[in-house]
Amino acid sequence: MPLSFASAALALASIVPALAAPAGGLLKRAAIPSYALTYAPYTYLQSGEGWFPSDVATHVKHMSVDYNYKNVSASVTLGTLNNYNSSTFLTSYDDVETNPAWLTSTYGKPNGKGYSAAPATIIVVEKSGFVDVCYFYFYSYNHGSLVLGSRVDNHVGDWEHSMIRFSTAGVPQNVYYSAHSSGTAYTYSAVSKVGVRPIVYSAAGSHANYATAGTQKIYPIVGNIVTDTTDAGPYWDVAQNYRGYYYDPASNTVTSAGGVGFGATEQASEKVDWLHWAGMWGDEQYPTSDKRQSCALGIDDLCHYQTGPTGPLTKNLGRTAVCQKEDGCTIKTKL
Ligand SMILES: *[C@@H]1O[C@H](CO)[C@@H](O)[C@H](O)[C@H]1NC(C)=O
Ligand SMILES: *[C@@H]1O[C@H](CO)[C@@H](O)[C@H](O)[C@H]1NC(C)=O
Repeated sequence: MPLSFASAALALASIVPALAAPAGGLLKRAAIPSYALTYAPYTYLQSGEGWFPSDVATHVKHMSVDYNYKNVSASVTLGTLNNYNSSTFLTSYDDVETNPAWLTSTYGKPNGKGYSAAPATIIVVEKSGFVDVCYFYFYSYNHGSLVLGSRVDNHVGDWEHSMIRFSTAGVPQNVYYSAHSSGTAYTYSAVSKVGVRPIVYSAAGSHANYATAGTQKIYPIVGNIVTDTTDAGPYWDVAQNYRGYYYDPASNTVTSAGGVGFGATEQASEKVDWLHWAGMWGDEQYPTSDKRQSCALGIDDLCHYQTGPTGPLTKNLGRTAVCQKEDGCTIKTKL
């Protein structure tokens, strides 16, 4: 008697789970967990924002790869980025002071429904007893803050992230907001939400993440004289357009998890190497001999132009504490 359809299906079912969950777990998973999208941040850009989200694949089209201020390669794609070492810089073909179109572009500005044509990068990190989902936002340009009348900390390329820590059952527990070189952690119950989704405010120009609207002090920089501004401007729903990945810190392995929208269609050909590239996503800090550069009081932190940032995998994704900087990480229970 030929194998019945039912017994064939049964035989298949006994094989499929073995493929879906091999020893070591996450590597064969097809998609990021649904709870990562259900609880994804409800992100607000600031109402006066002029430097919008960018697609990383579009950003690199406007960059050469430079080392020590000289071209190593005139062009690069996400697929070739990791051919270059950690001392290299994506460097704008254009003089940023001429406001090139890629720098001021609005294609990534979310529409009225929260959709941005610039895919977010969502990275899921499974750990012992919990799951961290990191929501990365990329912008082609960081427009710095005014300090003592001069604008400091402009740079090409800007990575920010918020992170939600879930129980292994997918229940949100904590939320982390990155801001400049540090950030703030809260309990999930403490933060403002739209439905079940934590609100993330992205500051004007700097795109630093905060849990509240208003004027925000930037602690790491010279006292409290530098501030960020947040409010409920354009709503950005990262769940509508993203590239999705799993990351295993122990083996330093990135696995493509697919995504939705524009980024997802590009994802297969891009592979995952670009996340391993350890170089800088924007121009190296212009020397003071460059006429565009000036540094207030001769202090490096107060230079008009600073160096572009490194990418997502350098943001301590293997952390045990909720904060990127684990020492002295306090989880606030109210805003
Ligand atoms: C790098 O190469 C590109 C393309 O040839 C060129 O437009 C750009 O000016 C070069 N940049 C530098 C810093 O040499
Ligand atoms: C990094 O790459 C640049 C450009 O190819 C090269 O000149 C430099 O020696 C490399 N540095 C290291 C540490 O490999």
